[in-house]
Amino acid sequence: MKSDIEAEVVIREPDNLFQDRFDAPPHFIIRAPGRVNLIGEHTDYNDGFVLPLALDRAVWLAVRPRDDGEVRLHSLDFGETAVFHLNHLYQEEGHWSEYVKGVAWAWQNAGYTLSGWEGVMQGDVPVGAGLSSSAAVELAAARAFTAVARIPWNPTRMALLAQKAENEWVGVNCGVMDQMIVAAAQADHALLIDCRSLETEAVPLPGGTAVVILDTATRRGLVASAYNERRRQCEQAAAFFGAAALRDVTMEMFTAVAPQLDPLIRRRARHVISENQRVLEAVAAMRRGDAAKLGSLMNESHLSLRDDFAVSSPELDVMVAIAQAQPGCYGARMTGAGFGGCAVALVRGDTAVTFAQTTTRQYQQKTNLKPNIYICQAAAGVEIISLPR
Ligand code: GLA
Repeated sequence: MKSDIEAEVVIREPDNLFQDRFDAPPHFIIRAPGRVNLIGEHTDYNDGFVLPLALDRAVWLAVRPRDDGEVRLHSLDFGETAVFHLNHLYQEEGHWSEYVKGVAWAWQNAGYTLSGWEGVMQGDVPVGAGLSSSAAVELAAARAFTAVARIPWNPTRMALLAQKAENEWVGVNCGVMDQMIVAAAQADHALLIDCRSLETEAVPLPGGTAVVILDTATRRGLVASAYNERRRQCEQAAAFFGAAALRDVTMEMFTAVAPQLDPLIRRRARHVISENQRVLEAVAAMRRGDAAKLGSLMNESHLSLRDDFAVSSPELDVMVAIAQAQPGCYGARMTGAGFGGCAVALVRGDTAVTFAQTTTRQYQQKTNLKPNIYICQAAAGVEIISLPR
């Protein structure tokens, strides 16, 4: 758990370093969190339901407006300054600044007039772990551009534009979950997102529980092609049912015709249809404060992702099995796109530290890998915070 003091240290740093770098104080600082998804995996691009929360790990961006169209952004994590002009945006594949340029492109493309700024950025969301450090950078940049150009902030509209930046500028075909949660999260709550209507509902975590992120310390290549393949299989399944998306197919409709479906497509569809149901049941359980039920739905979600959707990995399975066997653990599952990265567990709050220690030790013994474990607090979405003076 991160104390207020630690959080303040992170805030102060870009502030002071901004002063050093640009010889003046920043006008404001932005905090844009990472996220973890409690349940509802691979449902967002099927117009379904997801239940993520924002993390108390974030990207921090100190900003001062410029009166020309230039953006000068120094990343403390990459030790590099990116400079570009809003009138001449061009792509540099694979560079961290593409997320910022993509946002500038998407907003200008939507008809907004932007102006330049200079900034210093630093984050403690692990990169490449499936905790949406990229959506955090996108929304931090979006908040900077909109604040500098005095564009009203509408979380849903901003999330959609950030998704467009990622899809069309960066070239990653993600759904809308990550940008929505970073834009619209509420502290101490998970957020039920209907990925069709984009309506949201904040749902409190059951009292006395803690959410723990279990990073397997594995990263897989080719995630993008496997992800796109799953998307196509889901579209194929929806077409079979004559539905706009798998969101529209109920378990009854599925069961009635399941034998006629291609076996692989059948498994993919079964995951999405059952996972959407689990999300709604999870919300009902949380409303009752029923941590045990929420945990068992998370366990079922893992099996469905492993067996039907085939996006888990041996390390994720080992991590989830270790977590589930701990006293005080209500449930655990892989989270995010899969194939590597993180699992998430719901545990009794007073056992969280022991849980983290034991899980670390056992995972290390079984895999020879050193995991990273974070006990997290549900944070608010992207925001402009006042300067710590
Ligand atoms: C990635 C994507 C999301 C979502 C998840 C799987 O995180 O960015 O849009 O599809 O995978 O639930």
